[in-house]
Amino acid sequence: MLKKLAGIKSAAIDELSSLSDLGELEAWRVRYLGKKSELTQILRGVASLPIDQRKVIGASANKVKVLFEHSYQEHKKSLKERAYQEMEAATGSKQIISTPGISSAEKFGSPDVSLPDVSLPDVSLPGRPIPLGRLHPTTQMVREICNIFIALGFQVVEGPEVEWDYYNFEALNIPPDHPAHDMFATFWIDTEPDQRPMLLRTHTSPMQIRVMEQTRPPVRVVVPGKVYRYEATDATHESMFYQIEGLAVDENITFSDLKGTLYEFAKRLFGEERRVRFRCDYFPFVEPGVEMAIDCMACGGSGCRLCSDTGWIEILGAGMVHPDVLRRVHYDPEVYTGFAFGLGVERIPMLRYGIDDIRLFYSNDLRFLSQF
Ligand code: DAH
Repeated sequence: MLKKLAGIKSAAIDELSSLSDLGELEAWRVRYLGKKSELTQILRGVASLPIDQRKVIGASANKVKVLFEHSYQEHKKSLKERAYQEMEAATGSKQIISTPGISSAEKFGSPDVSLPDVSLPDVSLPGRPIPLGRLHPTTQMVREICNIFIALGFQVVEGPEVEWDYYNFEALNIPPDHPAHDMFATFWIDTEPDQRPMLLRTHTSPMQIRVMEQTRPPVRVVVPGKVYRYEATDATHESMFYQIEGLAVDENITFSDLKGTLYEFAKRLFGEERRVRFRCDYFPFVEPGVEMAIDCMACGGSGCRLCSDTGWIEILGAGMVHPDVLRRVHYDPEVYTGFAFGLGVERIPMLRYGIDDIRLFYSNDLRFLSQF
């Protein structure tokens, strides 16, 4: 019996060293360690052996079993390691596969194996291009406009989109019962009964108040940001869009400063040859209030579809800051005067590129967005 065991042992170990893939290894395991293997049969028979043989045979057979199991695990590990190395050599890349017990030096050392029969990649080919991201057309426009005002001496500041009713309306001469209040359809925020009313700002003008509360003249700021209106969307209306507010307050600021600044802005944005037109308009927080138009860049003023046959395109609202607004922030209107303006951002690329639906800006269709 002991001889038989020795025979099985040497045959199995000899065979094991010549196995070169995991399939063969599995077959070996079944043959030498499986339920029907000779070794298992011997181990099963141990109990029925005479007592003196039982100890010796049992111990030897168990030793062989432990040896087989250990050798099996070792061989499996080395076959796997060889497979990784072959893969690395074939792909030229280091696959980081953690193999416990094998140092990275062993893992990544020069593979001592012949290359498998796979075609190697052509490393001289150019890499796959990574698509470049870009700024949203609105962001591009906001930056372009702000840069013009920065060059004219303005600072850029931003403010909250969730705003107190006080800043959005009241401080701008729009009290709750004022008809101008109706000009804005508003998203109101649910507040506790003891809280002041809060809303999503309907324009960037509330930042005029916040800026003046926090600084003393001279003030020269532009405020880009999102504004919200509760209304049905269509080709020219969105419930969220961007505005840029402007404010300049100092001693001796006059209506000519307003006209000069905005004329310069229009030329820098729409071209040196642009003409501008100012007409009276009403906004509760300015007096006088105006609307500024540029001559139509499509027809040069003779009338076309873009300007609805008027030759002019309205681009912003403006005016001289109302004395009551100045008083509210403790600026003396006898000493300080100022002008303010507000413009819708999306309208400008719409005019420039002939975009006929404002909803395209925020519907996240890359076919539209990637054109800018
Ligand atoms: N806030 C106004 C609006 O949303 C636009 C505006 C008009 C802003 C006149 C101004 C201004 O600063 O002076 O319609």
